[in-house]
Amino acid sequence: MKKMNIAVLTSGGDAPGMNAAIRAVARTGIFYGLKIMGVKKGYEGLINGEIFEMSLSSVADIIHRGGTILQTARSKEFTTREGREKALSMMKIFGIQGLVVIGGDGSFRGARDLSGMGAHVIGIPGTIDNDIPFCDYTIGFDTAVNTVVEAIGRIRDTTSSHNRANIIEVMGRNSGDISLYAGLAGGAESIIIPEVDASVEDVCKRIMHGRNRGKLHSIIILAEGVGGAFEMAKAIEEKISVETRVTILGHVQRGGSPTAFDRILASRLGAKAVELLMEGQTSKMVGQYQNEIKDFDFDKVLASKKEFSSEIYSLARILSI
Ligand code: F6P
Repeated sequence: MKKMNIAVLTSGGDAPGMNAAIRAVARTGIFYGLKIMGVKKGYEGLINGEIFEMSLSSVADIIHRGGTILQTARSKEFTTREGREKALSMMKIFGIQGLVVIGGDGSFRGARDLSGMGAHVIGIPGTIDNDIPFCDYTIGFDTAVNTVVEAIGRIRDTTSSHNRANIIEVMGRNSGDISLYAGLAGGAESIIIPEVDASVEDVCKRIMHGRNRGKLHSIIILAEGVGGAFEMAKAIEEKISVETRVTILGHVQRGGSPTAFDRILASRLGAKAVELLMEGQTSKMVGQYQNEIKDFDFDKVLASKKEFSSEIYSLARILSI
């Protein structure tokens, strides 16, 4: 195991549990006698040298906090070779020999390119979207799903009182996982996701089926990657005369205290990332895959697509009829 100086940054959209991962990186590194540095504002901060040494207390009292104490950014400059060269020379100036990047696929692309230029980089999947292959769950996904499930409960109350339908648009970029898991857990009548073709006719059929057996509400979960919530509401009202409201949950899904699941996942992945760097590994993602903590080359991760769970989709349809 190599003694080295390691820096950690968060990149892309924030996700609940990122702080727990930062804490795990810092404390594991200090446990092994390493110098740990925090980089502010993702790759942007790396380019600009917004770097500081972390101590055990820099990460005190953060395991339960949403957001990221390091802040995050989507850096345009880092996507250019010149930007990455600047980052690399800043790493040399600060004596950084290993870097942990907590983020999503865009952040991993940057991390892979930086590794290709000689840096030692390990990635930790942190995004609410759960769209990273070779990884059962990304950090933040469980918290986001729980937030959506809580919102479904509240919306169901008012939807029932008015005997309406409500289309709830949830985040997830091009992935339907938040919709799928929250839809199953929240008992939604319809789940509309980018991975499966859907029709307004089918949605209307399911609404009417529920109403005919006395259901007071209809909850339709719509992934943002599909879009068209307001058009769909209008179409439902025109076709079956059911008053339909739209709720766009938005960034409420990105905040809040991480669930125990996300804190545990983040802690395990943070510790493993430091150990991989100490072993001299680079250009890899560490993730929980098939229930075990494993590592995969960025090249393999970035060349693949996360598998969509048709089993959960079918189950949600069967159970919500
Ligand atoms: O990737 C996380 C995510 O929250 C997506 O679900 C969403 O499409 C996007 O980020 C929103 O990005 P921004 O922070 O730029 O609004």
